[in-house]
Amino acid sequence: MTGYEALEGVIDNVEVPLLQARGVRKAFGPTCALRQADVTVSAGEIVAVMGPSGSGKSTLLHCLAGILAPDEGEVVFSGRRVDRLNEEQRAALRRTDFGFVFQFGQLLGELSVVENVALPLLLNGVRRGKAMAIAREWLEMFDLADLALRRPHEVSGGQAQRVAIARAMATSPKIIFADEPTGSLDSAAGVTVLDSFTAVARSRGVAIVLVTHESRVAAYASRMIVVRDGVVTAPAAAEWSR
Ligand SMILES: Nc1ncnc2c1ncn2[C@@H]1O[C@H](COP(=O)(O)OP(=O)(O)OP(=O)(O)O)[C@@H](O)[C@H]1O
Ligand SMILES: [Mg+2]
Repeated sequence: MTGYEALEGVIDNVEVPLLQARGVRKAFGPTCALRQADVTVSAGEIVAVMGPSGSGKSTLLHCLAGILAPDEGEVVFSGRRVDRLNEEQRAALRRTDFGFVFQFGQLLGELSVVENVALPLLLNGVRRGKAMAIAREWLEMFDLADLALRRPHEVSGGQAQRVAIARAMATSPKIIFADEPTGSLDSAAGVTVLDSFTAVARSRGVAIVLVTHESRVAAYASRMIVVRDGVVTAPAAAEWSR
């Protein structure tokens, strides 16, 4: 091995964060929604975000994902300043490296389940036959193959959320931002959704930033952060493992 190759090996082993927020602040008029946010997410890591209603969780997620521009601080994704990208560049990032899952899935009612999952691929220029084939593979991974031709209103709430997750995964993003993806479900359905979401993400090495009120969150996440009154903290080890 040459000295250069040895050096490359060392560089490969240095863990570069996938996503990092430093000193992020965001106010809405007089309301300071995020006062001080320092967050680091490594590749493949599942970070749970918890905290009371109105504490700034969604604001944090939107700043990390380039949906909102912070007033102060910086957000860096794979070495690029997300907060300095223009709208077109941020849209491109959201189509390729980022995936999103919201509380009410937001599936398109006029499309079938499989068309919903294929849609982001079609928007990325994948031809229809290939997009539909990839979409079917993702449906299978989430145990939804039998529902491919149904419309969103013909599936259960938990199934719809798994479709929304399959759609977020379909473009093979590096990170998925999920804002209470089980918030509209009862606890049993929520557990099923989080089980399959985190299992598939782990098997694919996809990182997740997951806002959730699910009390069994430790079973799903690699790590938890807590937002209180706009300030991000890591819980004490005892609190985390409880
Ligand atoms: N677009 C907005 N305009 C004005 N105020 C806002 C806006 N979005 C959020 N806020 C305020 O910022 C604060 C943080 O809101 P945020 O939505 O981040 O809370 P949250 O932790 O996600 O709450 P929840 O658990 O209820 O979803 C709240 O006081 C909220 O009222
Ligand atoms: Mg919220």
